[in-house]
Amino acid sequence: MRVVVTGGAGYIGSHTARLLAGSGHDVLVYDNLSRGHRRAAELAVGPGRLAEGDLLDEDRLDHALLAHRAEAVVHFAAYALVGESVANPGLYWRNNVGGTLALLRCMARQKVGHIVFSSTCAVYGEPGGADIAESLPKGPVNPYGETKLSSEWALAAHARAHGIGATALRYFNAAGADPDGLLGEDHDPESHLIPLALDAVAFSGRNLKVFGTDWPTPDGTCIRDYVHVADLADAHARALSTSRPGVFRAINLGTGRGASVREVIEMVAAVTGKPVPHAPAPRRPGDPCRLVAGSGLAGEELGWVPRFSDLRTVVETAWQWRRRHPGGYRSA
Ligand SMILES: NC(=O)c1ccc[n+]([C@@H]2O[C@H](COP(=O)([O-])OP(=O)(O)OC[C@H]3O[C@@H](n4cnc5c(N)ncnc54)[C@H](O)[C@@H]3O)[C@@H](O)[C@H]2O)c1
Repeated sequence: MRVVVTGGAGYIGSHTARLLAGSGHDVLVYDNLSRGHRRAAELAVGPGRLAEGDLLDEDRLDHALLAHRAEAVVHFAAYALVGESVANPGLYWRNNVGGTLALLRCMARQKVGHIVFSSTCAVYGEPGGADIAESLPKGPVNPYGETKLSSEWALAAHARAHGIGATALRYFNAAGADPDGLLGEDHDPESHLIPLALDAVAFSGRNLKVFGTDWPTPDGTCIRDYVHVADLADAHARALSTSRPGVFRAINLGTGRGASVREVIEMVAAVTGKPVPHAPAPRRPGDPCRLVAGSGLAGEELGWVPRFSDLRTVVETAWQWRRRHPGGYRSA
């Protein structure tokens, strides 16, 4: 297919763009580089395949879809920092919801038939301890989650109105790096546990904060479902090939297994061979105790089986990239 990947200069977008290009799709990355890396896009899809532009610039986006004769869009472009969304909700509504609406308008004008969208387990809010199935009530507890749930609703309405095939993939915790070592995770600021734990090992003076050690979990720390970025990329390819005109679907992407913060710290120590300097910190408001996918739908709908998402592979691939690129993409 001829595919436009919005946000393809970012972490998950670049891994997915590379997989799609490598499996025969004709890929154009559309990204304003506000939070991504030109180098990541170039490594993922080769030179000359990045259209620099903002989602909210509909003329430019129309032109990119038209010039590429796009048949499908994989839509990663968004802001994704929960704390920032609480401090500046307008920024998130404008970029994430406004940007998605602009994209959907352009897709309708250019008659692009399919979209796969980056959603998140944050749409469920604080669902309690049980594994999370797609049918659970949605109750986001921060503007970031609200903008993603609202974008899903917009997708569903546009699927009905314009016959678009639309899939929202609700990722749990994306982690790890390209098993080939080419691409990795380089956020600024970094808010994710595994790169922060690796940085605490790699750079002296950095201490990992453990937010809450008194949660009702076996070791007192929060539990999350880590899913390898290569498995996420694979799910997007499958979502494209199974997308049906006029049908909206929302699918969890998680492994159904949880790891606690303490287990992650132990794995990082085992993989790097060094202890992770860390210290307890107070719980953060709005941090759920346990988020684990009650998955099954991804297997049924997409035939998706995670292959890289065991915690050791996640940490090993992340470490491999971080060790070789201590300055992130500046050193790639
Ligand atoms: N990383 C995770 O654990 C996780 C979990 C659930 C959902 N998600 C979602 O997955 C998507 C990708 O996440 P990521 O970690 O790769 O983020 P990222 O910040 O690395 O990538 C996002 C990319 O989108 C681009 N972008 C942002 N706003 C844009 C705009 N208006 N126009 C054009 N480009 C724009 C940025 O420059 C960046 O390259 C996001 O939508 C995020 O909400 C991420």
